[in-house]
Amino acid sequence: MDLSEFLMMEHSDIRIMVNTGFLNEINNFKSFSDFLIVDHINIEEKIYFPVIIDNDWEDKQEFQKIVERVKNDHKLLETLAKNLISWKENGNENLFNLRLPLFYKTLKDHNNYEEDHIFSRWISLENSTRQDAMDDALLIVQELDDKYMVFSGISSNFRQYIKNHNF
Ligand SMILES: [Fe+2]
Ligand SMILES: [Fe+2]
Repeated sequence: MDLSEFLMMEHSDIRIMVNTGFLNEINNFKSFSDFLIVDHINIEEKIYFPVIIDNDWEDKQEFQKIVERVKNDHKLLETLAKNLISWKENGNENLFNLRLPLFYKTLKDHNNYEEDHIFSRWISLENSTRQDAMDDALLIVQELDDKYMVFSGISSNFRQYIKNHNF
């Protein structure tokens, strides 16, 4: 599994969670927003984007703009998640219920945009580059452990298998 596949697998988990309403419960939402920020977004920003942007793309300038747009989405998603948590904790139920669908829509659109405009390029990078990026991402995942497992359903055996699978 390479890092594009891994991140799209997480997008798939996110789609299911959003669609089932699992996140409507505040404690689930809080843990999920940690997972989203500390795991998924962190891997994209710290590992995936710097590597992919470094490649010699023909449309490099245009592509950089696409990545910048996606990073701005991340800031918006983080702010929305923090606001939603504080509204709920301060008893502002109406605002929470009103804005939750906006958070879901922003997140789903964002993930689809990444898949449409960024993730499909990854396969044209060198195998060793993709391997190193996957290894670095697994280090982040490793640190999160339990918090991560709840949302991905990925077992430590699965993680170990990804780690051992050189491509
Ligand atoms: Fe993202
Ligand atoms: Fe993503």
